[in-house]
Order: sequence, then C-alpha cells, then structure tokens
Amino acid sequence: MKMWSGRFRQPLDPEFEAWQRSFGFDRRLLNYELQASAAHAKALKNAGILSASELIAILQGLEKIGNDASSDERHAVAQDAAAEDIHHFVEKQLAECIGDVAYKLHSGRSRNEQIATDLRLFIRAAIDHLQSNLAELCFAFVYGAEQAGAAAMPAYTHLQPAEPVLVGHWLLAYVEMFLRDADRLADCRKRLNLCPLGSGAVAGATLPLDRIFMAEELAFTAPTANSIDATSDRDFAVEFVNALSLLALHLSRWAEEMIIFSSLEFGFLQLPESYSTGSSAMPQKKNPDLLELVRGKCGRVIGNATALIITMKGLPLAYNKDLQETQQPLFDAADTVMAMLPLIAGFMKAVEFDYARMQDAASAGFMNAWAAATCLVKKNIPSRQAHELIGKAVKLCIEKNCELGDLPLDELRELSPAFDQDFYECLKPQSVLAIHDVPGGTAPARVRQGIASAKKKIEALREELHAHA
Ligand code: ARG
Repeated sequence: MKMWSGRFRQPLDPEFEAWQRSFGFDRRLLNYELQASAAHAKALKNAGILSASELIAILQGLEKIGNDASSDERHAVAQDAAAEDIHHFVEKQLAECIGDVAYKLHSGRSRNEQIATDLRLFIRAAIDHLQSNLAELCFAFVYGAEQAGAAAMPAYTHLQPAEPVLVGHWLLAYVEMFLRDADRLADCRKRLNLCPLGSGAVAGATLPLDRIFMAEELAFTAPTANSIDATSDRDFAVEFVNALSLLALHLSRWAEEMIIFSSLEFGFLQLPESYSTGSSAMPQKKNPDLLELVRGKCGRVIGNATALIITMKGLPLAYNKDLQETQQPLFDAADTVMAMLPLIAGFMKAVEFDYARMQDAASAGFMNAWAAATCLVKKNIPSRQAHELIGKAVKLCIEKNCELGDLPLDELRELSPAFDQDFYECLKPQSVLAIHDVPGGTAPARVRQGIASAKKKIEALREELHAHA
C-alpha cells in the first residue's frame, strides 16, 4: 500500500518515482527505525489508540523484521523495489507480517519526525563507535611514544629544522589532536541526544503522546523543545560531519608527515610492507598508499561537510524534501572515517622508526642555536644581543662547514668574552632537550608526564564509552 495516494488522480511518472526514493541508502537506518517505531507504538497504547494485543502484535512484528534482516542477507531489506524509503519499507513489512493492524502504527506521527529521530540515533551510535576507535588510535600513538624512549628527532617550523624534540613528544602532539576530536564528538553527542518523536510533521503530534516516555524509551535525555525546529533541524549532522572533517584533517596532516619522513631523503621510518604497495612499472618501489589514501579521503570528508551545509542553506522551516539529500554525505563521512581509524592504529603498530637516523638528523643543522643563545642569556647578555652573537657563530660555522660545538673557544671569544667552556655543555643534545622543562615541553621528564596524562585521558574516554554502552 502506498503511504499517500488518496488525493492523487494520476500515478507517478515511473522514472521520477524511482529517482525520488531514498530506500537505496536509508535502509541502513532499519534498526533505528524499528526502535523508534516500538517507542511510538508503546506511546500509542498508553494514549489508548492501540489495545494491549495490538501493541504486542506490532512489537512482535517489528522484532521479526529486525531478526529477518539480520539473519538473511538477501532479505527484502536489500531487495524491496517498491519501498519509497525505510519508513515505507517497515510499514509494508509489518502489514505483510501482522495484517492491517500494522497501519495503526502511523497514527499521530509523521515521517518528518521519524527521519529526524533515526538520524539522531544513527549518529549517536556512530559517535560511540568512533570514540572507541579513537581511544585505540590514541593508545597506538602513546605506545609509540613509550617505545621511542629517549630518541630525539628534529622538530620543524616552515619545514626547516628548528629544535630537537623527543620522538615521543612529536607523537603525543597527534594524541592531543585526536583527544580534541573525541571531545568534539562527545559534545556533539550531548546536543543531539534529544528526542524529536511527538513533533509530528511540523506542529506537533495530533494525539496526546507522552513525549518524555518516548525519549526515555530511546535513551534520549529529553524530548526536543520545539516541533518546528525538531523536524527541520539537521545541525547535529552538520556538527558531526564537521567534527569528522577536523578529525580527517588531523589524519591527513599526520599522513603527510609520515610520507615525507618515509622518503629516502629523510629515512626516518620504514613503511610496513603489510600496508604498502609496489609499482607495476618500477620494481624497486614501495609506495605509501595507506598514507596517501588517508590524505586523499580527507578531501572527501570535507566535501561531504560542504555538501551538507550547502543543502541546508536557504531552506525555509520546517521539513523540505531537500533534507533527504543530507543523508548520503552523512553516511559517507561516517563510513570513510570509521574505516580509516583501525587501519591507522594497525599501521602505527607496524611502522618501524629509524631512531638512529632521527637522532643524527636532530644533532646537525644548528638546532641547538636557540639553546646556545639561552646559555648566553643566563650569563646576563640581553637576548637580542645573544641572538646576534649566535647568529654570527652560525655564519662562521657555515663558512667552515661545521656545527657550533666544533668552533674553538678562542674563535667564540673573539665574538664575545661571555663564551666559556661550559658553553659546549649547553650545546649537547641532552642539554638542549632538557631546557624545555615546563609542562608541555620536550624535557624527558615532561614527555613522561605527557604519556601518563594521555593514558589517563584515554582511560577517561573509555569509561565514558562504558557508561553509554
Ligand atoms: N525519506 C524522507 C527523508 O529522508 C523521509 C521524510 C519524508 N517526509 C515527507 N514529508 N515526504 O527526508
């Protein structure tokens, strides 16, 4: 049975009919549609619209549809050519299963509130899944930081060697980004966790349905506050996909760094063979495909965020069919990021860093220059002057093709009598690392603190997930 044919004199143009359907993509919402329908059915019973036996028939029918779909891959969920959307599909299946009483289920509700509810439930579940993947990913990076121990590497600004840092410090930078991503998703989850059921098509349900009851049934914190907003709002999807864009952007920056560091010229790491491919033409090649695809997919996620927000722009309140177009970018963004996270965690566990080579790179290229200037500052030389003196010393080194530590003391003293034997101590890699002895700095003890605090944050994230499960 069609959902709306009563007032029509002509059938739909078949091409249009096929083109406007959303069942091809919204069928993945089946479980949420079933849960929301069960909550609505119970509210109908409480409102005296369904008898106890009708409610039981409907609930059993809904359960059967869910079981059939999960037990049989070739079930109608994948095949039903006549279903307009997931809401129509469930109604049809229910009627097939329990007869005409199925048509009572739609009493007092609209597909506009249904799709808004299903999408909130979908995103809520997706967030929980992503959070658990993010915890694993953070853990893989923290593990890498622990493994790296005392190994140092260059930190870059403008992609020019700037100062040495511990490899652990560099890896923890990504953990911070991912933890912010997790926090943004948690925040998005808080705001979306309200129940649109009972909002009707736009002006509210036509029956006295208990909205608080339905919200509780679906583990929402409360009903949404305004029926017009609830049926037209997709902020939660926009927020979610934008949070994913930022996460994908972090992954893309990481991928870019790893690609650079894996090049022969840097040689900071060996690409794991299990995550690389060869060239069909050049026998010697091992290509960073995982990293390049991560970088590439970031563009796709950002594209989805853009598609979503542009679809919303200019829509009058409340429901418009344009809103159907928000689903595919949402699903694609969620799928794309969900598939990447475990792969990246696996890649991180498999990648081999060449600590010796990183350490060598950190020991050359005047990366101790700022520490050297600081050494003079501690001897009461004004910092601008200290900067100038070390700049001159670097110029000398460039002429002689050596490092600061290779300059003899008498040559340094020609620049300033402030130079002393202990200056050479300041130039050693351990001393340079140790001077950043503030919270968030790269001194080894600070990095150890960073590791410990990251572990605590990951644990807190896991506990929060546990509470939602
Ligand atoms: N398939 C529709 C969507 O995704 C469901 C809501 C339809 N509502 C309507 N008034 N035609 O937006």
